[in-house]
Amino acid sequence: MGKQIMRKPFIAGNWKMYKTVAEGVALAEGLKQTLADVTTMELAVCTPATALMAVGQTLAGSHIGVGAQNMFWKDEGAFTGEISPLMVKEWAQYVILGHSERRQFFGETDETVNLKLKAALAHGLTPIVCIGESLDQNKAGETVDFVGSQMRGAFTGVSAGDAVKVVLAYEPIWAIGTGLTATPEDANRIIKAAIRDVLTALYDAETAGAIRVQYGGSVKPDNMADFIVMPEIDGALVGGASLKVDSFTAIVKNAIAALSV
Ligand code: 13P
Repeated sequence: MGKQIMRKPFIAGNWKMYKTVAEGVALAEGLKQTLADVTTMELAVCTPATALMAVGQTLAGSHIGVGAQNMFWKDEGAFTGEISPLMVKEWAQYVILGHSERRQFFGETDETVNLKLKAALAHGLTPIVCIGESLDQNKAGETVDFVGSQMRGAFTGVSAGDAVKVVLAYEPIWAIGTGLTATPEDANRIIKAAIRDVLTALYDAETAGAIRVQYGGSVKPDNMADFIVMPEIDGALVGGASLKVDSFTAIVKNAIAALSV
């Protein structure tokens, strides 16, 4: 028996700091062709800010959305080096917030993620909020408490009506770019205990059940199926394997095959 699908599956690529405009457009052109017939799954590519416009233009009219990887929470101002929600939404529909690399290298905190989340929602952008524990936290058995606290921080002051528009990405830090993955069973268990149950406590079971949760961390064509069939996992946030037409296409097609959608 297949998985009962309650939420539209959503696979997004996070290109991180890869791809010039020309390279990004070439990748987008390729995906536009190979994924042209995909309608049962939501798809997006999250590009560097410099490529948002060109990739947004390339993918206009396709089923593949575009996302930024970060933004500031103010509409405009003297904030050198930042991009605003108004700038993102000219070309994109999504924005990744609170990625562990931003938390680790660029001082992102639960408080700034919360401010950015509210700004994204106010501007009609779909936020993809990343949460996940370090290897030390995982080994110490702190995962559920820590991810739960990231969740409560992110959703402070967010109404249930807005919360259902958020996408979450559970990305164990030790699985990012390492070739290591959480087992699908562990990822499913943590998403239930640290994300779905926290959302139920913050809101209610219906709201919690409507919010999509991606898994991220070394997702590849050959492990996508094992994750997507898990009841709590609604898709993936893909780093390295989203940088090539062939591997991102294979991830999407393998997920579709596994779900028979
Ligand atoms: P990798 O797929 O390269 O492990 O990256 C995962 C990630 O951080 C996506 O946001």
